[in-house]
Amino acid sequence: MRLHRGPLAAWYSDNGRHDLPWRATRDRWTVLMSEVMLQQTQVNRVLDAWPEFIARFPTAEVMAAGTVGAVITAWGRLGYPRRARRLWEAARVIDHDGWPDDLTALSGVGRYTAAAVSAQADLVDVPAVEVNIRRVVQRVSGELLTERAAEAGSVRVGVGLTGRDRLLALMDLGATVCTARAPACATCPIRRRCVTRGPLPNEVRTRQAAFAGSFRQRRGQVMARLRSEARVSTDELDGEALASLVADGLAVVHRRAASLP
Ligand code: ADE
Repeated sequence: MRLHRGPLAAWYSDNGRHDLPWRATRDRWTVLMSEVMLQQTQVNRVLDAWPEFIARFPTAEVMAAGTVGAVITAWGRLGYPRRARRLWEAARVIDHDGWPDDLTALSGVGRYTAAAVSAQADLVDVPAVEVNIRRVVQRVSGELLTERAAEAGSVRVGVGLTGRDRLLALMDLGATVCTARAPACATCPIRRRCVTRGPLPNEVRTRQAAFAGSFRQRRGQVMARLRSEARVSTDELDGEALASLVADGLAVVHRRAASLP
């Protein structure tokens, strides 16, 4: 039955990224893991890491039973390794106490991630706004919006869709049609309702800071050594970068040798 499908719903059913592997499940843990990996990393890079990750950590219990170092090692080159530590901490809580009612109680889980997990895994009809959805809703309404205003706006823009489908339809539209730099308004299913039909004049573009020459790169170089060798003499490592990794719980130093925790 295809009656009463709105244009966005029709577009989504024909053009949505339905093949993304983390969309084939309603398992909370799997969805949470995917959302944390996708927080600051592009879809293609998460796709590469996904098979190994899901095989190693199929449940929160399995992750909780291992060391944080094992998660950091598997995290590999996804970047922003604090996410790996927070995910491991969340796994320990889930394993020990079960899932909290309020998912933002878990480390690394903010307002968006909590809502995205509820919508996708539990089919709760809660709006969730990440960077792509925010851009779509702002352009359609013609103004910059706070997160909460964008959540309410996403319900209006996604009229006819609920929870999971609204989230994924708006996300996919933002990622593939209503893109940051080159929106394809001619093929947009909701152009008739769109105020700006293109970028807002003062649209905030979130860009990751340059990696080359950054402190993040120096930390990454130390992490790469610690992933490949069990213990590395601190003399051979960038001391400032190592100290900041230790402070974040991503490395430990014992008798002038550093290792993963
Ligand atoms: N599917 C579900 N959540 C996603 C996300 N954050 N990015 C890309 N695809 C997704």
